[in-house]
Amino acid sequence: MRYHQFDDEDLQACKRVLDSGVLCGIGGAETPAFEEEFRREMNSPHALAIVNAMAGLHCAVVASGADYGDEVIVDPMVVFAALGALYHHCTPVFCDVERDTHLMDATKLPELLTERTRAIIVTQLWGQCADMDAINAFAAEHDLLVIEDCAHAIYATYNGGYAGTLGDVGVYSFQQSKQMALGDGGMTCMKSAEHREIMEEMITFGTVPKRLGWNYRINEIVAAIGRVQLTRAREYVRMCQRSAAAYNAAVADCEWLVPQANREGRENAYHIWAAIFEGEEFGITREQFMTRMGEHDFPVRLGYIERPAYAHHCIAQYLPDEPYCEVAEHLMPRLMLIGTGGDPVGHERNAEKLAAALASF
Ligand SMILES: Cc1ncc(COP(=O)(O)O)c(C=O)c1O
Repeated sequence: MRYHQFDDEDLQACKRVLDSGVLCGIGGAETPAFEEEFRREMNSPHALAIVNAMAGLHCAVVASGADYGDEVIVDPMVVFAALGALYHHCTPVFCDVERDTHLMDATKLPELLTERTRAIIVTQLWGQCADMDAINAFAAEHDLLVIEDCAHAIYATYNGGYAGTLGDVGVYSFQQSKQMALGDGGMTCMKSAEHREIMEEMITFGTVPKRLGWNYRINEIVAAIGRVQLTRAREYVRMCQRSAAAYNAAVADCEWLVPQANREGRENAYHIWAAIFEGEEFGITREQFMTRMGEHDFPVRLGYIERPAYAHHCIAQYLPDEPYCEVAEHLMPRLMLIGTGGDPVGHERNAEKLAAALASF
């Protein structure tokens, strides 16, 4: 199954950089052009290219004004938001998710607020935006920065606006597995020029940086390929959406393999098609399910990272307590994920196998 498309246009972009003799983001023409093109594409006031999404999350936490020991509210289904908080020695505080969408449950935010809360990192998980109206309203009331992790969600929309432009700072990943793949790379979008300036100072690592800075620059070759790939990413997401539609259709009549629910007014970019195995409630064990799927040439794995983010040592070792998110605990071991990248025709064939396997129960 063919993944991302790289061709002469990408080669020409690399050659342009090599011919210019400027391969570093400082003083190069490609990085500002990439930022401007991305900013316009997403209809965002500002954009700043960055080496990867983790660096973007780290910088965004700094931009929130959080000091060491302050708190950042994060979701527990993936580790990245919590790690972003820990990079700045902040404490991640875990907000449970909605059972049907797997996204941050905004109704749980008030009970997590303390005097030390500075920001919320919301993961637009699998490709769908969380309840941004509620999250933004809560953040505005309590003067918190809203950071969107859009590593899965380029071109996802929420009431017509693109993921990454809904909160204060949006962070995108161009790591190889993502819809827009540059090997590694990232972009951030932000509403405020001040936040951009803080983040730029963090990544512009000179002889004596203006503030504690990291070397988080993107390089010119990645930025140049990024400009080409940006012209293809929308179409790529459409293919992912088409593939996800085939999997949704395949499970439509099954009560116990429940796909991520889509809320009205949100377009899911479907980096990943996710479903929850609820077979036990219907007398089907995990083992029976996996064996039967294998027999239908549709091998599956349940569980993703098995446990919520806070239960992994890399994060748990820094937490003052033992968080417990009831819904995430239920979902994590039951997660079935399918990457939607590549040829939709192959996915459609795969989805037929899934439907046949489910029909055999
Ligand atoms: C939701 C999410 N956030 C952040 C990241 C980190 O992205 P990067 O590799 O660009 O740092 C990933 C990577 O898989 C991700 O899936």
